[in-house]
Amino acid sequence: GKVAVLMGGASAEREVSLMSGTGVLQALRSRGVDAHAFDPSQNDLGELRRDGYARCFIALHGRHGEDGTVQGALELLRIPYTGPGVMASSIAVDKIMTKRIWRAEGLPTPDWRLVGSVAETADALAALGAPMIVKPSREGSTIGLTKVTSPEQCAQAYALASRYDPEVLCEQFIAGEETTCPILGEGAAAYALPVIRIVAPEGNYDYQNKYFTDVTQYHCPSGLPEAEEREIQRLVVAAFRSLGCRGWARADIMIRASDRQPFLLEINTSPGMTGHSLVPMSARASGISYEDLCVGVLASATM
Ligand code: DAL
Ligand code: MG
Repeated sequence: GKVAVLMGGASAEREVSLMSGTGVLQALRSRGVDAHAFDPSQNDLGELRRDGYARCFIALHGRHGEDGTVQGALELLRIPYTGPGVMASSIAVDKIMTKRIWRAEGLPTPDWRLVGSVAETADALAALGAPMIVKPSREGSTIGLTKVTSPEQCAQAYALASRYDPEVLCEQFIAGEETTCPILGEGAAAYALPVIRIVAPEGNYDYQNKYFTDVTQYHCPSGLPEAEEREIQRLVVAAFRSLGCRGWARADIMIRASDRQPFLLEINTSPGMTGHSLVPMSARASGISYEDLCVGVLASATM
């Protein structure tokens, strides 16, 4: 039947989503899938049912796409969709709720504070120590993020993050190696793909260096010792299952340089599928082409 590739949307990651969705759409069509682009910020989701769509591939990022709202609407419309369900999506898009669960489950994640003012941001810096990351709880692609090294930066960092989300997260900065790892499957059958190690100029893996420059280096195979690679894979699968994820996701992990301790930062339940994106890169390293990945994720669509 007909497949809608949901892309665009109204979140701050709209442009990224359009790139992801365009790639997915082409890949599915190249494999003979009757796929069509659908932008929920320009069309009523109810049209999906009327127009006879059998399944949705969600290539939306951020709020109203990755956060359980679209997933809930598709449940009501009875249209199967890719990726995690309503609850896992809405928890995962919220970095603070995610960290609470990981902490409760004994999974390592950097210390943090939820702040609601500049004064609380300064208190957080005193408590967590510098450097500290200040970011909106429910955004992606490093939008609205500041690495704060001194108290004078707190006002601007808080103002920027709170432009995107009234819930602002202050998080201890982990100095070390940046990695990311995709997870596929569900429940006891969930498994991790190869780890990617990211080396950005001056550690600046920001919006620009994520999508628009070629200065970031990606290592896959990661080049990490095998025991570390396996430990990261074990952690991301545990992180995925702890939130009740299914289908696919990609978790971001920092390895602390001082003692090689890995820390979970967040999990993305609608990972980027752009030309610069990481799930396709990791899949390719394990022999799965971009097209195979899209077809495989689509095949896992459920509700
Ligand atoms: N939030 C972006 C799309 C990602 O995690 O890939
Ligand atoms: Mg993210």
